[in-house]
Amino acid sequence: MSLAGSNPTPTAPAGRLILWGDVLDFTEDPGFATPKEALGVRWRPDHAVLIEAGRVVAVQPRSQALDVDWQAAPVQDHRGRLIMPGFIDTHVHCPQLDVIASFGTALLDWLNTYTFPAERRYADPAVSKDGAQRFLKALWAHGTTTAVVFPTVHKASAEALFEEADAHAMRLITGKVLMDRHAPEGLRDDVDQAERDCVDLINRWHGKGRQAFAVTVRFAPTSTPEQLMMAGQLCQTYAGTYMQTHVAENQDEVRWVASLFPDARSYLDVYDRDGLIGARAVLAHGIWLDANDRAVLRERGAQIAHSPSSNLFLGSGLFDWAQAQREGVNVSLASDVGGGTSLSMLRNMGDAYKIQALQGTRLTAWKALYTATLGAARHLGLADEIGSVEPGCMADLAIWDWAVGDVAAHRDRLAQASGDLHERLFVWMTLGDERNLAGTLIAGQTVYKTRAAA
Ligand code: GUN
Ligand code: ZN
Repeated sequence: MSLAGSNPTPTAPAGRLILWGDVLDFTEDPGFATPKEALGVRWRPDHAVLIEAGRVVAVQPRSQALDVDWQAAPVQDHRGRLIMPGFIDTHVHCPQLDVIASFGTALLDWLNTYTFPAERRYADPAVSKDGAQRFLKALWAHGTTTAVVFPTVHKASAEALFEEADAHAMRLITGKVLMDRHAPEGLRDDVDQAERDCVDLINRWHGKGRQAFAVTVRFAPTSTPEQLMMAGQLCQTYAGTYMQTHVAENQDEVRWVASLFPDARSYLDVYDRDGLIGARAVLAHGIWLDANDRAVLRERGAQIAHSPSSNLFLGSGLFDWAQAQREGVNVSLASDVGGGTSLSMLRNMGDAYKIQALQGTRLTAWKALYTATLGAARHLGLADEIGSVEPGCMADLAIWDWAVGDVAAHRDRLAQASGDLHERLFVWMTLGDERNLAGTLIAGQTVYKTRAAA
């Protein structure tokens, strides 16, 4: 019997999924232009995102007919919701969920009083595993799908993060923390053992699935010159690895570094002279750098992970983002939990707006949202994989409600009625947080969803 002329019910190939909703992403850096200029903004309301085998394969108006072979694919109906690339948090500490919101100290006391004692517990692999699971779930529950993460000095803590992220095909960048001085017993390594642990982690994890290794110098004061040299050699030997650290966060810290490294031109120079500053370097904070330092960062293509809620909470200072932009320094956005007070990148954008406002600059929603998506992806060299809702990119997506609660819902209605998309997004960014999140997908798989979005 011939099937010609009959109309067999199509069956959906496994791994296909269609999302309906309003799609927002970016194609260029909007800069510090006015909202009206809307540079690089790509707004695709009432569209369908077609996902197959973990990747976006098409984004098309919902009204456009689907190819026949897509007609049986399951649909998640998020009409009226925002679909965006998952956020990229370029600096966050897994073990510090244990000390988030700790009272009363600036950086150096905060490390000694709260952070170091908490990190010591991660020597136990069971604590590391439990912590990694809790932490990654928390990222997803805040709409973050990629992160550059500090674990602890213990190899097991990096291992646990790699294992958990790999099990969910999540793009993660991490590496065991290097610190061989000025830290308590149980949190110090030594140069030789640290090198062996890093090389082993690189061999086993760097480039496995979506995992990438970062040479992770905690900050200059907790590494000897010998350890910094070893770290620089790792960066040179294993091209393609990242480097993450802290720099010029707090004025007491800057003075301490100057006393520990009297030969260095500046705090940044301590890292630069050992070859640690390349295009894959992610340096948290950078509040107290000078113009010379910023020129070095620009030349190397390194990025500052601006951590607004942390800078406010620890009283570290006001990062001048507009100046960094003028001087050509790459800037991404980070939560820096537990110095930061929220994993929500929306809350961190709200804090970033206030930090710039105090310095006479107005941060648009365009610039903030670009920075936490395509901007970070570009600075990490990953724009062909993450940061936009683009055919070929991984389907790492977050789905958002515009408003939660009566005040936000009222304000959102007025913003919507104005017909000004920037106003609506700015209200969402400023009033929103993780309660606005309806669902998170990584590589096309749902890793988080609320009951309402089920
Ligand atoms: N500098 C060195 N270690 C840390 C840390 O854990 N958090 C912050 N915010 N700064 C640091
Ligand atoms: Zn940090």
